[in-house]
Amino acid sequence: MSRKRVVVIEGEDAAPEAVRPSVALLARLAGDIEWVYPPVGARGMDAGGSPFPPEARAAIDASDATLFGATSGLSALALFYLRWGKQTYANVRPTRYLRGCPSPLAHPDGIDFVIVRENLEDLYVAVEGDVQGLAPLGLQSFTLQRPVADLKPGTFALKVITELGTDRVARFAFDLARRRKAHGRPGRVTCATKHNMLPRTDGLFRARVERVAGEFPDIELQTFIVDDFARRLVAEPHSLDVVVLPNLYGDILSDAAAGLVGGLGLAASGCYGDTYAYFESAHGSAPDIAGRNIINPTATLLSGAMMLEHLGFAAPARRLEAAVAAVYVEGRHLTPDQGGCASTTEFCTAVADRL
Ligand code: IPM
Ligand code: MG
Repeated sequence: MSRKRVVVIEGEDAAPEAVRPSVALLARLAGDIEWVYPPVGARGMDAGGSPFPPEARAAIDASDATLFGATSGLSALALFYLRWGKQTYANVRPTRYLRGCPSPLAHPDGIDFVIVRENLEDLYVAVEGDVQGLAPLGLQSFTLQRPVADLKPGTFALKVITELGTDRVARFAFDLARRRKAHGRPGRVTCATKHNMLPRTDGLFRARVERVAGEFPDIELQTFIVDDFARRLVAEPHSLDVVVLPNLYGDILSDAAAGLVGGLGLAASGCYGDTYAYFESAHGSAPDIAGRNIINPTATLLSGAMMLEHLGFAAPARRLEAAVAAVYVEGRHLTPDQGGCASTTEFCTAVADRL
């Protein structure tokens, strides 16, 4: 297999403290990777006055994948390029209970599902404006029964769902359910939308998912209204396999899902497009614990395992996941968010010892 090239963007605040030892472990597991560190964020500002200079973009374009820490804002331009520039439309966020993690549930054992969040559309087209500016459009509010521009001063945000954007993330979700079924999972996709209130946008999302389901007769489709789904996520997480969600619901509910199994410190994530993928923990940059060497690197490590698999290093990926799981079962080297008192370094050493 040919040598792979991975861009590393460490991000801000405590994120680099999770990324550095994670890269050391990943490098040890899969020797055939060249690690590239373009100047992004503060380093970009120092080097050329831009947090995302052209050479950083070129480095991403010339790479097979990016491992991203977490952004506090400075490296956000790079993140936006990784999403919208590289069209990474499927954000995969696994929720798997690792024995030894503090879960608020009485019986978290066996929770194993994946949220596939549409990653580019919905409210994330990020078009906002003043309500009054809508006057020329003559938009009638269905609930207010009058033109929306008649409202007192205020603002709006635009929600966009497209057929193509939904079809591709739906296919990704069904395909993932099929791959998981081959490994004993139930072969089920669950779709949640607010189609009762938003029949045009969320209704379209649901209709396109239903249509794509026709291409996958071996996979079952369930659809729920998203508020009802939120309850099911908490009350019946064991029943879930692959969940496909519009962008904002996926953002919110994937954090909720992480809360079921031990918190954001464990929340791995990968964003896949047709020609590129990047990997990033779902948590933020944790400014409150920056510089203390106590950030839980599990989310970064497990995102790294997803990356190894994507790059063709499936066996090392499984070894890394197994080593992380073993550290949790043993429970002697857990970070403070997991009720332990180990440092990030101690946790990573414990993982390395179990590889
Ligand atoms: C995430 C984050 C981002 C998002 C932020 C940092 C823009 O919350 O990856 O879940 O909303 O997508
Ligand atoms: Mg989020």
